[in-house]
Amino acid sequence: MKKKFVIAIDGPAASGKSTTAKQLAIKLKYIYIDTGAMYRASGLCTLLQNISLDDEVALKEMLDKISIKIEYAKEGNRIYLNGEDVSERIREADSTKLSSQIAVIGIVRKKMVELQRKMGENGGVIMDGRDIGTVVFPDADFKFFMIADVRTRALRRWKEVKDNGESITLEEIKEELIWRDKNDTTREISPLKQAKDAIPVDTSKMSIDEQVQYIYNKIIMRNKYE
Ligand code: CDP
Repeated sequence: MKKKFVIAIDGPAASGKSTTAKQLAIKLKYIYIDTGAMYRASGLCTLLQNISLDDEVALKEMLDKISIKIEYAKEGNRIYLNGEDVSERIREADSTKLSSQIAVIGIVRKKMVELQRKMGENGGVIMDGRDIGTVVFPDADFKFFMIADVRTRALRRWKEVKDNGESITLEEIKEELIWRDKNDTTREISPLKQAKDAIPVDTSKMSIDEQVQYIYNKIIMRNKYE
């Protein structure tokens, strides 16, 4: 590989972004940045500090002091909020709902985008989220937009949470995904949408290996001729 790219992967909840991005990062020896984890950590921070999402002054103060670190680990990156490992905690139902609620707030997005741009400034990164190809890195070298039908997405997420020992029904998961997608696509600031120059990848009928290989091939092919 010659150049160190910025690769943006956007798409709705549980569309396969993070699984794909993680494996792709290993293949390319790139850094993987899960921006959803950053919104999840910010949401959790309001919960831990008892801050209402309507209290702009308290939110601003929280954001001025917040520290979110993503550390590489072989079994999956670890997320630290103000020095504390919250990697598992941010995946719980309350943090998940809060992440989408806090993600509509302008000052929160401004702070997260600032941190994300810094993390990706030297290239060699794969960043996944909702607004990476549209807002965070509109000039990214590669943009992919992953989609999958809602039943497939709900099934995937259900298997994940079941493996972690959580008891939640498939129907509840499906409703949560639909609610979050609606919230994410209809918000005023940086809504979830496909960038004009993004390559769509429908993963409904793809295995994880196929998803990774599909995107990997696109990157390798272009790099060969540049
Ligand atoms: O992994 P999953 O697809 O369930 O969600 P996530 O990527 O962890 O993102 C959690 C929430 O953060 C999303 O529902 C969005 O509301 C928000 N988010 C965002 O607004 N912008 C991003 N770049 C990433 C996530």
